[in-house]
Amino acid sequence: MTSSKDKDRIVGMQKGLTKYGDDEFALFLRKSFIKGAGYGDEALSRPVVGIINTGSDFNPCHGNAEELIERVKAGVEASGALPMAFPTISLHESFSFPTSMYLRNLMAMDTEEMLRALPLDSVVLIGGCDKTVPAQIMGALSADIPFVQLVAGPMRTGSFRGQRVGACTDCRRLWAEYRAGNLDEEAIADANNALVPSIGTCGVMGTASTMALLAGAMGLMPLNGATAPAVSADRRRIAEETGVLAADIAKRGVKPSEFLSQAAFDNAIRVLLAVGGSTNAIIHLAAMAGRSGHDLSLDRLDKMARGVPVIVDLKPSGTGYMEDLHNAGGLVRILEALGDLIDREAITVSGKTLGEELTRYSTNWPQEVVRTTDSPLFAEGGLAVLYGNLAPDGAIIKAAAASPSLLTHAGRAVVFEDMADLAQRIDSPDLDVTAEDILVLRNIGPKGAPGMPEAGLIPIPRKLARQGVKDMVRISDGRMSGTAAGTIILHVAPEAAIGGALAYVKTGDIISLNVAERRLEVRLSEPELAARKKEMPLKTIDAPRGYAHLFHSHVLQAPDGVDFDFMRATPRKNK
Ligand code: FES
Repeated sequence: MTSSKDKDRIVGMQKGLTKYGDDEFALFLRKSFIKGAGYGDEALSRPVVGIINTGSDFNPCHGNAEELIERVKAGVEASGALPMAFPTISLHESFSFPTSMYLRNLMAMDTEEMLRALPLDSVVLIGGCDKTVPAQIMGALSADIPFVQLVAGPMRTGSFRGQRVGACTDCRRLWAEYRAGNLDEEAIADANNALVPSIGTCGVMGTASTMALLAGAMGLMPLNGATAPAVSADRRRIAEETGVLAADIAKRGVKPSEFLSQAAFDNAIRVLLAVGGSTNAIIHLAAMAGRSGHDLSLDRLDKMARGVPVIVDLKPSGTGYMEDLHNAGGLVRILEALGDLIDREAITVSGKTLGEELTRYSTNWPQEVVRTTDSPLFAEGGLAVLYGNLAPDGAIIKAAAASPSLLTHAGRAVVFEDMADLAQRIDSPDLDVTAEDILVLRNIGPKGAPGMPEAGLIPIPRKLARQGVKDMVRISDGRMSGTAAGTIILHVAPEAAIGGALAYVKTGDIISLNVAERRLEVRLSEPELAARKKEMPLKTIDAPRGYAHLFHSHVLQAPDGVDFDFMRATPRKNK
């Protein structure tokens, strides 16, 4: 039955007419141009489903974008709507200077404004590589138009001299072996050929995989859509199914503000914790929550972290790869294993509850990738939030990927001023450092670097690596790749560049870490810290024009998602 809301809704090509002062002429002109591409009046009278194409020669993670678009179009057309693909910015981790995070908000703005500008009744967001899915969801939440997320899917695993490998936990592990002198030039070149054996996103529980699972847990895509490999028939079928769903929500006009609830965000946090997911996801979820007026405070995260075990055995916290998780039943298996920890009443994009969606799938075969909550990989939270005089607004540690022996540790700080200083001194034979010291890298926060690069995985100084040291406590105001592991404290807030305490730590100061007590402190009194603020002035940041100026003027700190202050929504009530 057609509701009065549906009857009044303007759909398809008649939406958002260009302002010429004559709407009939604007529609006439629009149709003239689109007919130039071969469309007829019948097609142009249908609801329009946009398909965002983030394919790019610089983005091998999205190497299947054209193929996915073709399958989405098939689903949309079979459902009687009109598919229209269009491009936006595409970001790949290894082809973004200085770091993709610096550009995430630009991609979100591009996405939002294109969704506002084009005559769309719904849109399929095709993303995958780390920052693309958060940028797309942030933009779509702000534009508040019906959308479904479709991810490229993970790459296959490769083989390096008999070892199963995949980007990018193994990239970092093998590079560390090379730095320690355990792999020669020929071996590291062979590894380089094997680590990325196909198109698709990184094949471990890095940021791309985490964000795909969280988009599913939030009900923003079909539940089977997160894990199917990029090069698989499953992925193509999911694309077609996504097209059918996108046509359905185009006809019904289902806006995210009408169904996305705090329960959806809480489900996403619990899945993030259960999969031992990327620390980057905390920042992205905070930005999405900020866009839609929901709560994703660090306190809320930490409280949940204490009640959710890590149950998914994937690298970097465990041993498997994304294709193993897919074969084990993917997100559906995870949600079923989490039982009552998940709110099944949360409404999804299909209009059904998460619980109703789960009944569409069955996962009753034996597998070893997704454990039960009674026999988890780690009994408690993959992530923990730390506070103390070094991080009054919080810092993050991925405890599941850290060395248990270092989770309570006090040591002498060895401080690096910025990435250039780190590059110059970290491998010097003269560096005064021992395995018990704590490496500190500052000025890699949202403003300091800028864009909070993934440099928080400070390499083990070469001379210690050659002695067999594999892990040390490392602290920064930056991020690390979701594929990385170690006792790494990240996202220290406030960052050094705006006067956070990290700016005033000196080599030789004693820092203490206690993850069980959630403490991170430098043993300096308040008067000592205040005196250092006077003697150590901050560097000025010079960004007089363009996007750099916008970024430096408006970027928020990590707990607020590193979004721009003017992009946030007002908090939502009663949700
Ligand atoms: Fe694209 Fe890892 S580089 S997902």
